[in-house]
Amino acid sequence: MRIYFVRVGMLLMLTALATTITTTFVQADSHDNVNEGKYLSRIAGCNDCHTPGYLLSEGKTPEELWLTGDAFGWRGPWGTTYAPNLRKLVQNLEEQQWIALAKNIKTRPPMPWFNLNIMKDDDLKALYAYIRHLGPGGETAPAYVPPDQEPKPPYAQFPSPPPQ
Ligand code: HEC
Repeated sequence: MRIYFVRVGMLLMLTALATTITTTFVQADSHDNVNEGKYLSRIAGCNDCHTPGYLLSEGKTPEELWLTGDAFGWRGPWGTTYAPNLRKLVQNLEEQQWIALAKNIKTRPPMPWFNLNIMKDDDLKALYAYIRHLGPGGETAPAYVPPDQEPKPPYAQFPSPPPQ
């Protein structure tokens, strides 16, 4: 009987230890992913367009506004586009859906979709972890304006490409 209790006791201790190790490992992993995602959103340029005022403030927009999209228009032969709120977008996506979207996306300019298409899975997972970590903040960006319509300022005007 005594041996039985010792065995059960040891088993419980081992289970507790294993749980602690797993929890610590998972937490460390997601924490690293969030930090890596934050780093990527800065150096891969996502903040430059998807964060309000980021370029003109030289990156000083407070982090609570990061990736909430921007009402600054990009006008050219394609019409006027606005960088959407990625935090609202990503809240509704599973990690795998985000990866599939990023690998296949093609948008109007000036979104560098061709760069997003070649981002590695681990980097996309880190970006996903970071954007989810930020939570669903901010407003929805203005809707796309077709080329024959006048957008509300402010916007940047791109010249038409020279005729071929
Ligand atoms: C030069 C500006 C610019 C940069 C840099 C940029 N984006 Fe964008 N992004 C845009 C614009 C503008 C759109 C909207 C394009 C359209 O309306 O067709 C867009 C669209 C998107 C969309 C589509 C959203 C949807 O609702 O379908 C995703 C996803 C996206 N960007 C992610 C990123 C990520 C991730 C990065 C960084 C790796 C990034 N973008 C960098 C300007 C930019």
